[in-house]
Amino acid sequence: MCGIVGIVGTRPVAPLIVDALKRLEYRGYDSAGVATVSDAGLDRRRAEGKLVNLEKRLADSPLDGTIGIGHTRWATHGVPNETNAHPHFSGDVAVVHNGIIENFAELRDELRTDGYDFASQTDTEVVAHLVSRGMAQGLSPVEAAHAAVRRLEGAFAIAIVFAGEADLIVAARNGPPLAIGHGEGEMFLGSDAIALAPFTSAVTYLEDGDWAVIRRNAFSIFDADGNPVQRERRQATTTAYVVDKGNYRHFMEKEIFEQPEVVSHTLAHYLDFSAGRVRKMDAPFDFATIDRLAISACGTAYLAGVVGKYWFERYARLPVDIDIASEFRYREMPLSAKDAAIFISQSGETADTLASLRYCRQAGMKIGAIVNVRESTIARESDGTFPTLAGPEIGVASTKAFACQLSVLASLAVRAGVVRGVIDAQEEQRLVRQLVEAPRYVNAALKTIDQIERVARELSHVRHVLYLGRDTSYPLAVEGALKLKEISYIHAEGYAAGELKHGPIALIDEDMPVIVVAPHDRVFDKTVSNMQEVAARGGKIILITDEKGAEKAGIETLETIVMPNAPELIAPIVLTVPLQLLAYHTAVLKGTDVDQPRNLAKSVTVE
Ligand code: AGP
Repeated sequence: MCGIVGIVGTRPVAPLIVDALKRLEYRGYDSAGVATVSDAGLDRRRAEGKLVNLEKRLADSPLDGTIGIGHTRWATHGVPNETNAHPHFSGDVAVVHNGIIENFAELRDELRTDGYDFASQTDTEVVAHLVSRGMAQGLSPVEAAHAAVRRLEGAFAIAIVFAGEADLIVAARNGPPLAIGHGEGEMFLGSDAIALAPFTSAVTYLEDGDWAVIRRNAFSIFDADGNPVQRERRQATTTAYVVDKGNYRHFMEKEIFEQPEVVSHTLAHYLDFSAGRVRKMDAPFDFATIDRLAISACGTAYLAGVVGKYWFERYARLPVDIDIASEFRYREMPLSAKDAAIFISQSGETADTLASLRYCRQAGMKIGAIVNVRESTIARESDGTFPTLAGPEIGVASTKAFACQLSVLASLAVRAGVVRGVIDAQEEQRLVRQLVEAPRYVNAALKTIDQIERVARELSHVRHVLYLGRDTSYPLAVEGALKLKEISYIHAEGYAAGELKHGPIALIDEDMPVIVVAPHDRVFDKTVSNMQEVAARGGKIILITDEKGAEKAGIETLETIVMPNAPELIAPIVLTVPLQLLAYHTAVLKGTDVDQPRNLAKSVTVE
């Protein structure tokens, strides 16, 4: 998604803005730009591609000024090029925007009729012209900005600066997040606290419909009607944590190897290791009194929810509806205020997931959120959060956050089983002991690197891969396929192994590697039968199993990647590791942009 930065400062801001934009690179982008206000008026530099191109532009032709705005663009309207890069100008006005203005075509036609020419294909440019037209009609910059924002429909986070106004940024938010950062004699604006971390950890998040007038030593926030509102000033947990790769080649590699540590941190938040119990938590609802749990999320977070469904139903006898967030609110599932909902999101800003949360809110349901960013919108709009303690996840492909989401869901499922009288104290201790072991097993799984690299060399030449799994290994198979396709661009599909005979078996030939996720669990023998069906048709099998499964499989494979014999409850947390490593090493061999794959964004804040 796009990233926004603004500074009303005391120092030359262009380099500071670019540094802040670098902290937003993880969101994914395809062009960038900066505009500043100086005695010479309004000026900008923009560049296609990575921020290094913008830095070159600025080195060749520096920008003066101690007030400015910057933007990393993830193209929604208009191809990624310099013309469409933000900031967009109109007269004395410069604008950056994250989101989608749904009525931009109507506004563009209106403005063209009034004689405004459009230099870009973007929806954003209508904002610059609306503000400029307001000022031409006699409105002050702030009045013109407010009037313009009131015309907009859709999702937007906006920052506006004005020629001749060396102490003013106007900001507005409706959807994508926007935070004001409080400095000493300077004020900041950013899409999230990570961007603001080098300047301040004191932040005030705007709420939907808010707009703000920001000056060096003061700021005011207003609601859509122009009434002053107060918003909480928070201490962001995202410290100036130097987010760098350390001695890894990519953030994704680093984050895969951080999993033992962050899974341990996350579990410690939920488990009393010494007592062998799941801690009592101030949950937003009582698992003992709800009849049904709705879980909704997107992408990898959704797949964590699918694993969670197996666990809540198996260990707590709690019926679960799991939905892809973009489908959930349109299928009109009967909802009851007696039931509860959990939304899973690493960023806490995914538009579809947030919209599903608001849909359940309207039905009067109690809302919990499993999030990795505590100040995020989804966290703030929930009745309570179940944090993952994964630390900032920079790689667009979610890895450590997924492992932590599973850790939270497993802990909650055991807790739900206890309060629903399904799990007694002895069983709770047994299951908690298994959970406590998870980091050690994950660490052991990381040691399969040689086998993984061998298989990755095989995969890097193919065009299609099929992943199979049963039970909790079925969503893992889908997640493994998602990892491979999103960073290596190889087409991959994850399927329930039992579905093979109902169609996909027609795909099997010697060019279609089949990756089978099958620990020696309750459905292992069934999956062995599926592998035999694949082998009988010349399919190449890569089996990801444990020591017992490797011993019992009795089938010829291209490669068998052997994990430690992990207890059933934590097997998904362990088995996700080889799937992540396989995708990572295949992508590295293919030379793709592993941390920022093409067309993808880390946080999808538009529907
Ligand atoms: C994960 O590898 C993907 N990049 C993507 O599917 C992601 O999980 C999805 O967009 C949800 O993001 P969230 O967890 O921030 O809501």
